[in-house]
Amino acid sequence: MARLSEGGYPLEGPPPDDPDILSFESVRARLRDYAPTLVINCAALTNVDYCAEHPEEAYRVNALGVQNIALVCAEIGATLCHISTNEVFDGLKGSPYWESDPTHPINPYGYSKWAAEAMIRDALPRHMIVRTSWLFAHDGVNFLHKIKAAALAGKPLSVVTDEIACPTYNEDFVEALVKLVQTERCGTYHLVNEGYASRYDFARCILDTYGMRDYPITPISLAQFKRPSTPPPFGVLRNLIGAHLGIVLRHWREAVEAFVEREKREDPHV
Ligand SMILES: NC(=O)c1ccc[n+]([C@@H]2O[C@H](COP(=O)([O-])OP(=O)(O)OC[C@H]3O[C@@H](n4cnc5c(N)ncnc54)[C@H](OP(=O)(O)O)[C@@H]3O)[C@@H](O)[C@H]2O)c1
Repeated sequence: MARLSEGGYPLEGPPPDDPDILSFESVRARLRDYAPTLVINCAALTNVDYCAEHPEEAYRVNALGVQNIALVCAEIGATLCHISTNEVFDGLKGSPYWESDPTHPINPYGYSKWAAEAMIRDALPRHMIVRTSWLFAHDGVNFLHKIKAAALAGKPLSVVTDEIACPTYNEDFVEALVKLVQTERCGTYHLVNEGYASRYDFARCILDTYGMRDYPITPISLAQFKRPSTPPPFGVLRNLIGAHLGIVLRHWREAVEAFVEREKREDPHV
């Protein structure tokens, strides 16, 4: 919110409560009352394994819920900025995906997010679809926290080497998102930290940066790591259009260093 305010998008009045996006009438009532010029939608079912086991629920929330928001934005003349995912791609291209590459989701989460993108494009021209991947943040639970916590607890770590994407620091993502919104250029974007990594590389970098260089990680393959969802093996996003507008995120390894430095500044015992 602070970044958006600094970027020229102040919240006027208290923020509205989050409506259940499954209810068109709730979304409509809330957005009509508030009358925003810009709506940024982050709401989604994001647990990919849960989505794999509950595909209809994933579709209802991630696609039909987003369609509700898009239709109301069209009604009230607001721009919709929607956060999407690298999982709209199958990960079989073998090189980084450009924003205009053909999509082909291979799991229910990816399918639901892909359907949302299509519904937004149908519902309103004033939209930004912003794909990202492997977000890590100071709050909440994410891969970075899980790897660090497992190592601190002395648990054995086995991490896959053949699932590859762009780890992305949420602070860098938000800064880039605000710059993108300020351009008022509608379209589809990839905002990720530069470079890419396997889950194994990412985990190794996390532990090394925390000073746990000797902590062992066993490399395994996706085939050995049974889970309900099938991730795109090479789901690497290339930020071509954002870069053309001057919006580039630093390399993911620098972002991990910045993340750990901040954690240590805020809690020297980390
Ligand atoms: N995390 C990543 O690595 C990543 C990567 C690519 C794209 N994305 C996208 O980025 C966005 C944010 O992800 P995140 O990791 O921050 O997710 P998150 O922490 O799981 O947050 C998702 C939010 O959506 C809300 N939500 C779920 N169902 C809802 C409903 N029916 N109505 C209203 N709100 C609902 C959840 O509320 P409750 O907490 O109350 O359930 C939660 O606050 C998502 O669209 C995700 O697809 C994330």
